[in-house]
Amino acid sequence: MPRTEPIKAVRGVRDILPEERALWRVAERAAARVAHRFGYREIQTPVIEHLELIERVGEDTDAVSKELYRFEDRGGRQLALRPEATAGVVRAYFEGGLNQGPQPARLYLIGPMFRYDRPQKGRYRQFFQFNVEAIGGASPAVDVEVIELARAWLIEVGLDKLTLELNTIGDDQCRPAYLDLLRAYYRPLRDKLHKECQRRLEINPLRLLDCKVPQCQPFKSGAPKMTEHLCEPCASAWAVVRKLLDAAGIEYNLNPYLVRGLDYYTRTVFEFYPSGASGQQDALASGGRYDGLAAAESWPSTPGVGFAGGLDRVTELMASEGEEVVPEPAADVIVLPDGDLVAEAAEIARLIRVVRSASVDYEPRSLRAKMRAADKVDALWAVLFNADEAKRRVAQLRDMRSGEQREVMWSDLPELLA
Ligand code: HAM
Repeated sequence: MPRTEPIKAVRGVRDILPEERALWRVAERAAARVAHRFGYREIQTPVIEHLELIERVGEDTDAVSKELYRFEDRGGRQLALRPEATAGVVRAYFEGGLNQGPQPARLYLIGPMFRYDRPQKGRYRQFFQFNVEAIGGASPAVDVEVIELARAWLIEVGLDKLTLELNTIGDDQCRPAYLDLLRAYYRPLRDKLHKECQRRLEINPLRLLDCKVPQCQPFKSGAPKMTEHLCEPCASAWAVVRKLLDAAGIEYNLNPYLVRGLDYYTRTVFEFYPSGASGQQDALASGGRYDGLAAAESWPSTPGVGFAGGLDRVTELMASEGEEVVPEPAADVIVLPDGDLVAEAAEIARLIRVVRSASVDYEPRSLRAKMRAADKVDALWAVLFNADEAKRRVAQLRDMRSGEQREVMWSDLPELLA
């Protein structure tokens, strides 16, 4: 049965129309510029990965357990649309031999991610990230480098009222003992926690700390803090991170409840919020160190650190802060044949395109109707001609801003418009 309703976009995804793309382009170009300024090179990885790779990110992670777009392809492979890029970038680092090159490999990626989350403002099922990863570097100075890069990007796009939340979540040396302490603290409180937290208590107690449900809040302040139970290497890395941030003049809030949603983090974790906002869905950029991820993917154990900025949220905030972007005209020159002199119009456009962008109005309308339409498209020049002028291979070149018009030879157009 043919559908009678027009077919609309899938729930939770959206189109970014040319008018909006102008703003997005500002954010993306700033991302690329800032990344290059810090010595990062662009990488692209596929949006589909083996389900198994994504599951290694952490099976109790919302992005994996509840929000994953997973499917079987026609060859029976279990695949997933990537919910985030880090797992894929780490895979590509090894598969592409970047582990053999200079370390750390400094990489950035701009692209779509997919999470089957409840759609709302700032949260989409297809969203875009500016992802930055430094893989193969253990120095805490690199943690600060990526934080500085994230901040430089946000400032570059005009979002300078920022709050940086910072924490460390230790590593596999010190975290297990800390998690035991956390469980021991929460067990007597079990019945007072909300259902999901009761479940998490045994399997992933760290997540109790970032629970937003009101009934769980009163118990947080008494909970043991990771920062007080770090092993020596984690403690000294933590001290260096704070010292270097201080030296860079970057302010931060020490937030013992910041643990991040993905399981692969070790040591430094951070999130940037617009000042005044709070709550998970408002983070503009977030990341941290993930020294265990490579091994979790069954590659040689390799440290890494990075972050991802949310382009949807960043562009929304840029727009609401009144960031003005002049949309580029569709074309500098519009070619307007009288009636349907299509071959001649195409020939003129071809001549012009050597030096300028040009589009043609091919509709079989009168010149007058076409001029009215041309006024709306912001072109700098119009090239008008009728059948008689076409025979003489001349046209009227009109400056759309001044309204001045003169007859020119087609062959002179490239030089006149260059
Ligand atoms: P994440 O915190 O899950 O981290 O996402 C990073 C950013 O992506 C968030 O701060 C937010 O701006 C944006 N974001 C996340 N989900 C959505 C959504 N549904 N709609 C719109 N924007 C969203 C990661 O993805 C890690 N891979 C970051 C990382 C890189 N850590 C180390 N390297």
